[in-house]
Amino acid sequence: MCGIVGAIARRNVAKILLEGLSRLEYRGYDSSGVAINNLDGVSSHRAVGKVQALRDKFTAEPLDGKIGIAHTRWATHGKPTEANAHPHFSGEDLALVHNGIIENHEPLRRELKAKGYEFKSETDTEVIVHLIHDALKTEPDLLKAVQNVLTKLHGAFAIGVVKNDENGRFIAARKGSPLVVGVGIEENFIASDQLALLHVTDQFIFLEEGDVVELTRDQVTIFDEKGEVQERPISVFNHNVDATDKGEFRHYMMKEIYEQSSVISACLEGRISETKVLTSCFGAESEFLKDIENVHIVACGTSYHAGMVAKYWIEDLAGIPCSVEVASEYRYRKVAVPKKTLFLTLSQSGETADTLAALRMAKELGYLTTLAICNVPSSTLVRESALTLLTNAGPEIGVASTKAFTTQLTALLITSVAIAVENGLSAEKEQELVQAMRSLPAYINDALAQDAHIKVIADRFANKHNALFLGRGTMFPIALEGSLKLKEISYIHAEAYPAGELKHGPLALVDEDMPIIALVPHNDMLDKLKSNLQEVAARGGELYVFADKETDLHNEDNIVFTEVPKVDRILEPIVHTIPLQLLSYHVAVVKGTDVDQPRNLAKSVTVE
Ligand code: M6R
Repeated sequence: MCGIVGAIARRNVAKILLEGLSRLEYRGYDSSGVAINNLDGVSSHRAVGKVQALRDKFTAEPLDGKIGIAHTRWATHGKPTEANAHPHFSGEDLALVHNGIIENHEPLRRELKAKGYEFKSETDTEVIVHLIHDALKTEPDLLKAVQNVLTKLHGAFAIGVVKNDENGRFIAARKGSPLVVGVGIEENFIASDQLALLHVTDQFIFLEEGDVVELTRDQVTIFDEKGEVQERPISVFNHNVDATDKGEFRHYMMKEIYEQSSVISACLEGRISETKVLTSCFGAESEFLKDIENVHIVACGTSYHAGMVAKYWIEDLAGIPCSVEVASEYRYRKVAVPKKTLFLTLSQSGETADTLAALRMAKELGYLTTLAICNVPSSTLVRESALTLLTNAGPEIGVASTKAFTTQLTALLITSVAIAVENGLSAEKEQELVQAMRSLPAYINDALAQDAHIKVIADRFANKHNALFLGRGTMFPIALEGSLKLKEISYIHAEAYPAGELKHGPLALVDEDMPIIALVPHNDMLDKLKSNLQEVAARGGELYVFADKETDLHNEDNIVFTEVPKVDRILEPIVHTIPLQLLSYHVAVVKGTDVDQPRNLAKSVTVE
């Protein structure tokens, strides 16, 4: 997490950097800072809180210069104070911004203190800038000094470095944290994400692990880990810049909830015909599908919940074993890999540190192949996976994942059917599933029609401190996702259980203060779920039931009913997600929390 931006131009770069930081706020918003290099030296502003606080400092005291670096922080080492905000300095002339974690910062700090360096922050980052300062005593060339220092760092980093007497260049590097170079006309840039630079360029170079870059106005020179100059291809960004506008909506989250019908269409486009899943969507090497005998899915957070739904689909449709695990657990245990197992990662950002580490580990374990279902075409996960299925959701800015989740589910449904076809799914059943998928965008719109009603019931949650979500089958992961959304943006403690587990413990929590949110599609689990609801009602629990009309459930004394469209069973988890997103959104608005940037979180979790 944390976001960095850097620029070298013929014009003043302050505005470019501030705009870049605002676009990167989704990565962290505890504090921010800018260092500008001009003929008078390196000057800087830092501020606690959102980028607006930094903008206020620039309004009060503008900084002007043609080279600069900037940072928005998600605190890891040290509290969100001004002293811990980046850029960090060594002396007055050398400044650095960093995204990532330096794992060996403690021994390095001890060494530097012994040499007389004084530390002004609690951050791991400050060791890097002092190390470069120290290296410059014997290696006066900034580029070489940075290259030397990077060999001493353990952990993950993307950095930008400016030095006062280096008026024609600045240096950047990445290993384990994302960094792109933006290529302009007589100006060049760096950023943690290309979105940060769309106001100045649409041409990007994606750096590889261990790359160090020297940026001048006219040139970008990339050195690989061995110090050899490398040419890396330039890609042209192909999304509409307006995708990062809130438009008519008050929050990005709501805009993204409402985009789901169209982005699900984009996700389906070219992947299904009238009757079939088009396996060409997995690329030229789609023959892997016929060899799969097992699937291991690894992901984090919301993406993990999407993986949990896919387990039901794959085992049901294809009849082959599928396991799902959070990446932070998978990466630290000994994994037994059955032969012919597909390793499938899910990630909106494609930069989640745990998921990337899991992928790198999996590549050594003899999997059949690696497939990433991801929303960001240029991400590290996509680049490092053998195969990719993009979710095509467009940029997701709200920290709480919404459209990224439902498009992941859509891509997973395509994948599950493709695997099932190779495992005996009949052409007739395939056609039925594909027809169902084609009606998905319309069902999403039908589900969104409940927005006004859900806004009304959200009021009843404003003074609640806990909530319990229940579901069975594929509705259980959706219950988990609903509870994650509620806690993430409204700060209400929420848990989710498979409804059948209620009597094994959580029933003890039920009283008149505990809202119970039950997901009740009309399927073969209906009667069992209705019995679970009776158990809750008998204990005075307030039930919020999300169900289709055919369930014969409706508003009653202790039941608040919300209608969800009746859909084919396979689509139930996708369609039932929509009202839960709306519920958490409206509860957060009632509570007045920061919907798009909830406290303590960041959009892209690029640290462990
Ligand atoms: O980018 P990823 O999908 O890999 O991110 C994984 C999680 O950090 C993410 O889904 C997180 O749980 C969301 N903020 C949930 O809304």
